[in-house]
Amino acid sequence: MTKIPFFDLHRQFEALRTEILNDLAQVCESQTFILGPKVAELEEQVASFSGAKFGIGTSSGTDAQLLLLMALGIGPGDAVITTPFTFFATASTVVRVGAKPLFVDIDPETLNFSVAKLEEFLTTECVADESGVRTRDGLNVRAVIPVHLFGLCSDLAGLRWLCDQWKLILIEDAAQALGALFPDGDRQVKAGSVGAAGFFSFYPTKNLGAFGDAGLVVTSDPDLAKKLQVMRNHGMDPKYYHEVVGGNFRMDALQAAVLLRKFGHLESWSKRRWSIAQRYQSGLKELAIGLPVEPYHKTCGWRGHIYHQFVIRTSRRDQLRTALNEQGIGTEIYYPLPLHEQPCFQNLGYATGDFPVAEQTAKECVALPIFPELTDDEQALVILRVQEFFAS
Ligand SMILES: Cc1ncc(COP(=O)(O)O)c(C=O)c1O
Repeated sequence: MTKIPFFDLHRQFEALRTEILNDLAQVCESQTFILGPKVAELEEQVASFSGAKFGIGTSSGTDAQLLLLMALGIGPGDAVITTPFTFFATASTVVRVGAKPLFVDIDPETLNFSVAKLEEFLTTECVADESGVRTRDGLNVRAVIPVHLFGLCSDLAGLRWLCDQWKLILIEDAAQALGALFPDGDRQVKAGSVGAAGFFSFYPTKNLGAFGDAGLVVTSDPDLAKKLQVMRNHGMDPKYYHEVVGGNFRMDALQAAVLLRKFGHLESWSKRRWSIAQRYQSGLKELAIGLPVEPYHKTCGWRGHIYHQFVIRTSRRDQLRTALNEQGIGTEIYYPLPLHEQPCFQNLGYATGDFPVAEQTAKECVALPIFPELTDDEQALVILRVQEFFAS
């Protein structure tokens, strides 16, 4: 039986083996392992690619968000609004700084934060005056964190407008969306560049993946950038003098070397992901399943969605997964349990039924293999097997 993996990092490594091993050897020769020129070069390249002025490399995407919340002074007594349908870190970092995550349900089409529901939440559940926005129980609502889930930008225009109206900080969780585009009038803007700051994850399976953990914050605010640089290194400035408490959120030079080498391929990998997605879209469109929304932006054409994942929805999700697994085809579920139903968040005061779209999606979603090195023959077989399943 032909096995088709959900994801295969070996193929990418084989294609770049010589260059990457040379780059890693250079770092070893330099014996400079923490921050340094490779990290600085990556920061500059990712910031400029994303349309932001500054990049601050970090030890992971989670640490990028934690650092950002710390630098923005978000803490006890504060609340941050986000989506319940995302990776755990989006909300856990809010809890770790002592603030409370408040959830707003997702849009059933895009699976991203619903701007309409966010507006409804702000108007019905919050009050605003000169000193800021507060919840009924007196928490200061400080920020909104949309997640550009699976590589599709949230409605950044709507979010920026709402955040401006309510004077809330917009932070983009672009962990899965490096390079995703959103139309802004005649221009196209990149994920991460619209909010006060955005952050990326370079977890190995991301579209740009390190050989371990790494992340990066982008911002165009020079004061925030300076604060982030200092706080990622224990708030130390100058050496061994600490005006603020930061942490060790630094990026390793070895990770930066790998990321810089791979970065040169990102655009062509994104194109390949998109063409795989197009084949799924046309091969599966006759089936009674939910397919990813295909944004067509006049300004940016196909490149809006960078297809970190290709997630379909069906009420027969578990049976489909079993059938594909029996035929050697790997799949994954992002995410099986929305955040408000996670055991560790029970003290937030939510109950099952509070976010019906997120709850339903968690029961129906399944991700099919999508990575640049997936071959056409492999993908054709995945499509055939899915078609056969629904014909049965
Ligand atoms: C939406 C989202 N936010 C945050 C993170 C955290 O990134 P990292 O795994 O690099 O810590 C991830 C990683 O999977 C993610 O998908």
